[in-house]
Amino acid sequence: MEVVIVPDAGAAGELVAETMADLLRRKPDALLGVATGSTPLPVYRALAAKAAAGAVDTSRARICQLDEYVGLPAGHPESYRSVILREVVEPLGLDEARFLGPDGSAEDIRAACEKYEGELAAAGGVDLQLLGIGTDGHIGFNEPCSSLASRTRLKTLTRQTRADNARFFGGDIDQVPHHVITQGIGTILEARHLVLLATGEGKAEAVAQTVEGPLSALVPASALQMHPHATVVVDEAAASGLKLADYFRSAYETKPHWQKL
Ligand code: PGA
Repeated sequence: MEVVIVPDAGAAGELVAETMADLLRRKPDALLGVATGSTPLPVYRALAAKAAAGAVDTSRARICQLDEYVGLPAGHPESYRSVILREVVEPLGLDEARFLGPDGSAEDIRAACEKYEGELAAAGGVDLQLLGIGTDGHIGFNEPCSSLASRTRLKTLTRQTRADNARFFGGDIDQVPHHVITQGIGTILEARHLVLLATGEGKAEAVAQTVEGPLSALVPASALQMHPHATVVVDEAAASGLKLADYFRSAYETKPHWQKL
């Protein structure tokens, strides 16, 4: 696992956007797995700015979703489909047909999960999956004690995650759904490159456990330790709990330029 410590959220967004742009220059129809929440927003803004400036052609990019609330009506502004349409698909000028995601309003949730797994496989798998991390160590909506081999399925959110996300629902935790569809940890680990992004002091403990703690279902993000190409991009605040921070800094500073992320 590579850990890259950058000064702030803006620098993190620029670095990850440039990594996505570089991938799209090599593979114009790359399948980019995107995440919701506040942390990745600087990435999407930086990537859209690069596209607008002609630094990268994103017109053939394909986008896929990591997770989705269950039970919100289709088109609800806080459904993750709506959020990704608003923050990624529309700013990049992509046709909605280039965007894959699970149907959280389906009658048969199990069938919707299986369908989504099939669509990801048929699309050739995810080239780069961007991940946020919950304060409880979740990736996607794989809450603590999710199977490290799990596939896309229904999960129940912890009270902490619902409290963390209440800000998107007018501050009212009761409006935050209990249930979600999420790519499983086994599903996420099949992406060819995982990029976990964390900024702010509130993520420092979860980041330290992910990077330096034991591999444990109690900290789902620690599954990145098993991936052959996992990059953790953190700002100084989110890196503040890392014992090996100086090593990570020097490794990145002396990294051969051609290796990129
Ligand atoms: P956040 O969410 O980026 O809004 O902190 C991260 C997550 O829950 O995965």
